[in-house]
Amino acid sequence: MGNKLKFGLLGALGYIAPRHIQAINNISADLKCVSDLDFNSAQKKEFLSKNIETLDSLEEMIKFHQKDNLDYISICTPNHLHTDQIITCLENDINVICEKPLALSVSDLDRIRKSESVSAAKVFTIMQLRFHESIIQLKQNITSQKSEEKHEVILIYATTRGSEFFSSWRGSENKSGGILFEFGIHYLDILIDIFGQVSNFNVNKLSLNQANVLIEHENAKVLIMINVLSKEKLKEMGQEEVLYRSFTINGDEFEFTGGFQDLHTKSYESILEGKGFSVEDASKSIKQISKIMDEFEKGSTYKPILNNL
Ligand SMILES: NC(=O)c1ccc[n+]([C@@H]2O[C@H](COP(=O)([O-])OP(=O)(O)OC[C@H]3O[C@@H](n4cnc5c(N)ncnc54)[C@H](O)[C@@H]3O)[C@@H](O)[C@H]2O)c1
Repeated sequence: MGNKLKFGLLGALGYIAPRHIQAINNISADLKCVSDLDFNSAQKKEFLSKNIETLDSLEEMIKFHQKDNLDYISICTPNHLHTDQIITCLENDINVICEKPLALSVSDLDRIRKSESVSAAKVFTIMQLRFHESIIQLKQNITSQKSEEKHEVILIYATTRGSEFFSSWRGSENKSGGILFEFGIHYLDILIDIFGQVSNFNVNKLSLNQANVLIEHENAKVLIMINVLSKEKLKEMGQEEVLYRSFTINGDEFEFTGGFQDLHTKSYESILEGKGFSVEDASKSIKQISKIMDEFEKGSTYKPILNNL
């Protein structure tokens, strides 16, 4: 009991926090305290019944750590808060497991790197798609083939969100970073991992709910299509909510919509095994998204050649 790793968790009342709490339980660690903006009394009671303290801020969590020595803080807060919260943890020598994206800019990523270099603690991120069975299989297939030609790849991700999604922090590009930081980062991460660095790209469409980007990797030409459909509009049209993920590689399509249930636990297990995704690992997709967004803002990559696809 005494040797269990001790965790704190920020953003405990949000959508993704239960996956982290489940992962902390599954690795037999001890969740000692959680923080969010305002717990109601029922929520406090629920956590307290499990011997988990409810705190109002990261500062309170640091004070908790000074008495009770936390090993890790898991960060499940909105994207724009990550960098500063990570740095506060590092300054207090507490290891961090932070949801994607670690940072919304290359300069913030550098701030994290600098802080980590003088801290006794480490930062890890969640890139759970790398643990998805279909993606592991895809990587094995691609890396075992010797192909002269670049692979032709189409990646489709379609999902549904209600109006509350866009009226929350996710509806603000300053806070979420936009659709590529919010959703695209998972796909950029695995594409770079499987098909190599990006040499060229062309943005056809980039908005809060749609991304259509052609990306040339060392080993593939990839068309990424991400669509976040409106729950209300689908309802008006009498249509079902959509959730769909698929890869088409050289004409052969496979779907990987399911199989996400235990991937946060796998992420935590890999961190404990010393194989977690570091700032360096996270930096490839963050740098690439920053570049795409910079070029798009300058208007230099828009070529409406994909409109008919
Ligand atoms: N890996 C994945 O597949 C995945 C999926 C969804 C979300 N995420 C990421 O997880 C993070 C959280 O997303 P979510 O969907 O759970 O958001 P959410 O809005 O549902 O939850 C965020 C929570 O953080 C709390 N919060 C805000 N500021 C805080 C602060 N200063 N201190 C403590 N708590 C604070 C909010 O009150 C809220 O309860 C985001 O970074 C998101 O990108 C990752």
